[in-house]
Amino acid sequence: MTENPHKAKYSNPFTATLSGIVNMFKKQQPVGVLKDDDRIDGKICLVTGANSGLGFAITQQLVERGGKVIMACRSGIPEAGDRIKALTNSENIEMIRVDISDLNSIKALVSELKTRSIKFDIAIFNAAIVPKGSRKTKEGLDQMFMVNYLAKFILIREFISAGLFNTKLIPRIIYVSSESHRSGDDIDFEKFGLYEEYTMSKVIALYGYYKLHLNTLASELSRRINVDGMKYSVHSLCPGAVNTNIARESPKIVMPLLKLIFGLFFQNPMKAAIPVTYLACSKEIEGQSDYYLHMMARKKPDERSLDRTTGEKLWRHSERLLERITA
Ligand SMILES: NC(=O)c1ccc[n+]([C@@H]2O[C@H](COP(=O)([O-])OP(=O)(O)OC[C@H]3O[C@@H](n4cnc5c(N)ncnc54)[C@H](OP(=O)(O)O)[C@@H]3O)[C@@H](O)[C@H]2O)c1
Repeated sequence: MTENPHKAKYSNPFTATLSGIVNMFKKQQPVGVLKDDDRIDGKICLVTGANSGLGFAITQQLVERGGKVIMACRSGIPEAGDRIKALTNSENIEMIRVDISDLNSIKALVSELKTRSIKFDIAIFNAAIVPKGSRKTKEGLDQMFMVNYLAKFILIREFISAGLFNTKLIPRIIYVSSESHRSGDDIDFEKFGLYEEYTMSKVIALYGYYKLHLNTLASELSRRINVDGMKYSVHSLCPGAVNTNIARESPKIVMPLLKLIFGLFFQNPMKAAIPVTYLACSKEIEGQSDYYLHMMARKKPDERSLDRTTGEKLWRHSERLLERITA
């Protein structure tokens, strides 16, 4: 078997940071241009993890383009929303509390949105973590697995079955992933959802592994919901290296260095949010699905994420796991 050439790039925090920096200097052919008239006036949007980093910048850009954004966050309520209101001079922002590592909190979110008959035109699943090691959720799952993958499966399944999308038009569903998905090992369905202890040395490899789950989910979802014609646009992307709070759990001793590197070489969140805003707002891609962007370049995601059999298997295993943890 040939070794995955991307594995070494994301095997530890040092090589992952270096890869992020190298990628920033590579010449890219942009997929298109985000135009001033790519407006979303009156459209209802959801952004998870909107209180910080990329999610905050995405929210700001969607509001500036006329969208009404529900910021689904576990912290920063109401400060983050108030900051966006001040920055955009708009009241088109609402914050709802949700902890996507907690099944009950996800259910409460869905129930509230359903009661209020919210219909989303755009949903951006952005929240993720890079923990310092394994942590168990209430349901006995690994927290990074739950936040970075399974919650996104649960949310989309619940949103669709609860009728939370405005299907008069073609809603756009966007997953914030990472180029590190290419480095992930093949999905091990024998161990799917099993909790295993790990420390910092395994975190970056697992982060890529769960991002591979996410890209596979995006492809499978697009196939499933568009089986009788184009009904939803499902896209995913890697924003490139962004100067955010993502490395907040890194050891204290390396924090000053990380902050320096992030500040010097990584993009600011407003720049990094442009490809997300493009996928959410651009008229050029209206009615299309399955875009994967790496910053502004359209790329083919890892071949394994496009495999139908793996996609179906991932969906089935996720459903079974969900049944098990809700039983
Ligand atoms: N930064 C990069 O270089 C980079 C590169 C490639 C991809 N990405 C992706 O970009 C996305 C945004 O990350 P970021 O860089 O902006 O990092 P960030 O500043 O740490 O933002 C992550 C967001 O996710 C939220 N979140 C985490 N756990 C949550 C939970 N259990 N429930 C609800 N919200 C939760 C955080 O909320 P709290 O503030 O309450 O913790 C925060 O708002 C992620 O999907 C990440 O994988 C980032």
